[in-house]
Amino acid sequence: MRIDILTLFPEMFAGVLNSSILKKAQEKKAVTFNVINFRDFSEDKHKKVDDYPYGGGAGMVLMPQPIFSAVEHITANTNKKPRIILLCPQGEPYTQKKAEELAKEEHLILICGHYEGFDERIREYLATDEISIGDYVLTGGEIAAMVICDSVTRLLPDVLGNQMSAASDSFSSGLLEYPQYTRPANFRGMKVPDVLLSGHHEKIAQWRKEQALKRTKERRPDLYEKYIESLS
Ligand code: ADE
Repeated sequence: MRIDILTLFPEMFAGVLNSSILKKAQEKKAVTFNVINFRDFSEDKHKKVDDYPYGGGAGMVLMPQPIFSAVEHITANTNKKPRIILLCPQGEPYTQKKAEELAKEEHLILICGHYEGFDERIREYLATDEISIGDYVLTGGEIAAMVICDSVTRLLPDVLGNQMSAASDSFSSGLLEYPQYTRPANFRGMKVPDVLLSGHHEKIAQWRKEQALKRTKERRPDLYEKYIESLS
C-alpha cells in the first residue's frame, strides 16, 4: 500500500511513522508513506495556502489550488484511482470497519486541514471520503491522519507478527476484548482468575467470551445491542 499525506506540518509525522509497527511495516515494504507539504504546490508568490472566507467571518479557509495541484502531481503517474480522504470534524465517524475497508486499497491520499476548514470545492470535486476520528475538534487533521495510518497499516498482510492478533482485537469481533493476564499468578495478593491457570482450553474460551460480553454490555451498550442483533 502507498499512503500520501498532504499537510502543512510534515515534521509532526516522523516520530509516529518511524516507530514500532509502522516502522517495521515500511521495512517489510508492506507500506510506503510520503509526507508532502502542500505549501510547496502553491502558485502564489508568497506560497500562500489560505485566504479569508467569502461572506466574511472568523478564520481562514484552505484554498483549492495548492491541494488540487498536489493531488494532481501525485496521481499523474498512477493508473488506479486512489481514495482521497479529507480529515475533518464533519466527516464520517471512523470505525474499525472503515479501517478494514481502507486496508483493501492500494493507494490512499490523506489531506490534513487546518484553520477554519477547506474550500468546499475540495470536498465536492476532489475528495472521495471525509473522515472524523471523533466528536471533538483538533487543531488540524494531522493527528487524525496518523490514526488512519496506524489503524490501516496494522491490518495489512504480514505486518503483525501473530496473524491472529488483529482478528482478536476489540471491535473486529464486534465486542470489546476480554481481560488479559501474564505472570506472576499472584502479584501482591492480586490473583489471576483460576480458570486461566487450569489448562482447560474450552473453559478458558468460554470464560473469555463471557467476559467480553459482560465488558461490552457494561461499557458500550451501543456495541452490545448491535452484536446481539447481528446474532438473529
Ligand atoms: N480535524 C479537526 N478535528 C478533527 C477530527 N475530530 N477528526 C478528523 N480531523 C479533524
